[in-house]
Amino acid sequence: MARKIVITSGKGGVGKTTLCASLGAKLSLGGQRVLLVDVDIGLNNLDVVMGVENKVVFDLVDVIEGRCRPKQALIQDIFNPTLFVMPSVHSYNHSVVTAENVKMVLSKLEDFFDYILLDCPAGIDAPFQRAIYSADEAIVVVTPHISSLRDADKVINLLSSSNIKKSYLVINRVRGDLIMSKEIMSVEQISELLKIDLLGVIPEDDEITTSLVIGNNMQGKSPSSYAYKLIAENLHNGSQNIYDCTCRYRGLWGFFRKNIRRRV
Ligand SMILES: Nc1ncnc2c1ncn2[C@@H]1O[C@H](COP(=O)(O)OP(=O)(O)OP(=O)(O)O)[C@@H](O)[C@H]1O
Ligand SMILES: [Mg+2]
Repeated sequence: MARKIVITSGKGGVGKTTLCASLGAKLSLGGQRVLLVDVDIGLNNLDVVMGVENKVVFDLVDVIEGRCRPKQALIQDIFNPTLFVMPSVHSYNHSVVTAENVKMVLSKLEDFFDYILLDCPAGIDAPFQRAIYSADEAIVVVTPHISSLRDADKVINLLSSSNIKKSYLVINRVRGDLIMSKEIMSVEQISELLKIDLLGVIPEDDEITTSLVIGNNMQGKSPSSYAYKLIAENLHNGSQNIYDCTCRYRGLWGFFRKNIRRRV
């Protein structure tokens, strides 16, 4: 039976969908059967990030409303044969999709996968509650900004009083040069503040910004691709290898890199 993990944050735009797609890609590259489910109904974009939006025939709402069987709504990834996406709709009357409906759909698919990753919408109201309802574990994504950390703190409190058994922290868009100059909080300070297990750290990476499709970046050797690989391994094996965002800024080359970065 699949591990069902919701990827959430509170604050919008911190990298939930990017993490969902990239982590799914890395887990499937490691041989796992992975399903990504877009529960961000109305503002969904997992299909776009995965580069499969032209292949969408049926979606989560079609399954819930009985227009197709759950397996008919699955789209195989372009790069990894063991990675599948269940897309969602752009415009829809949300109230028709209930937490129980989503759980029922997942229950029909969980025996065919090792992991089901749920891409959660921003916020902490009804759509968030609907997204977390079917999951057993949660990954809370933050960026090193105070607004993101405050929202994540609220989310962690809500998760602790929900059916979620285990929550992990991922810190995204970390700039090692700003940590070294003490202009942003360090990874240790953020982990201490939020008091949940650190699963990984992802550097700010132009490869993500410029990638049209996440799978392209996940095949390569970019710093973020390596960071996502570590996160997948930590999640799967329980290892605790965290990407060090400051390593690129140490030594002589690091000194130049740091200064160039601040001046352009
Ligand atoms: N580590 C990173 N480095 C650079 N850009 C990143 C990184 N992570 C995410 N991004 C960029 O940040 C933007 C927002 O990411 P994403 O859509 O994954 O956030 P989200 O939390 O899912 O947003 P929403 O709350 O709207 O669903 C995207 O343009 C993405 O390419
Ligand atoms: Mg998103």
